[in-house]
Amino acid sequence: MNKRLKVVFPGSFDPLTNGHLDIIERALRLFDEVVVGILDNPDKIHLFSGDERVKIIKEQLSIFGDKVHVLSFSGLLVNFLRSLNIHVVIRGLRAISDYDYETQLALMNRQLSGSFDVETIFLVTREENSYISSTMVKQIAELGGDVSLFVPSVVNEALKQKFKIQLGEKR
Ligand code: PNS
Repeated sequence: MNKRLKVVFPGSFDPLTNGHLDIIERALRLFDEVVVGILDNPDKIHLFSGDERVKIIKEQLSIFGDKVHVLSFSGLLVNFLRSLNIHVVIRGLRAISDYDYETQLALMNRQLSGSFDVETIFLVTREENSYISSTMVKQIAELGGDVSLFVPSVVNEALKQKFKIQLGEKR
């Protein structure tokens, strides 16, 4: 039987950047299906709500057809993986500075998964994406800067809309 290889790419994706897209494209060269798991943690303040992120990301990732699925999750990542019966996680590394946190997360997930056995694979982004972060993108967009080089156009539009709305509300 031909078993499809599946992987989860978890993150906040607040917002999705070209760096994330790069990782998804790389993951598709190794796996048949990628599930993008969007953390919707009520304790964390996000710029885009869980529903907004799912909508924006689904729109952008529709280019990959049924090879990429977009789902939101709350709680522990290992429980999300169990619910999907997927044992592999992909995370992107931009620079050595990501390594500490990412190995800690990978080891913690391995420990928490117990006999379910979760493995984490790190993929390295293209050099031109290595300095992009969602946090910086939000800050630049909020201050009226151009982020079109760092995010797909659907995200760029959503950011413009979001800050126009927020500025409008402040007045
Ligand atoms: O894009 P991010 O914010 O770097 O993604 C971090 C994420 C969502 C992968 C991580 O925070 C996560 O998996 N959170 C869910 C809670 C959990 O399982 N934590 C791991 C043990 S500390």
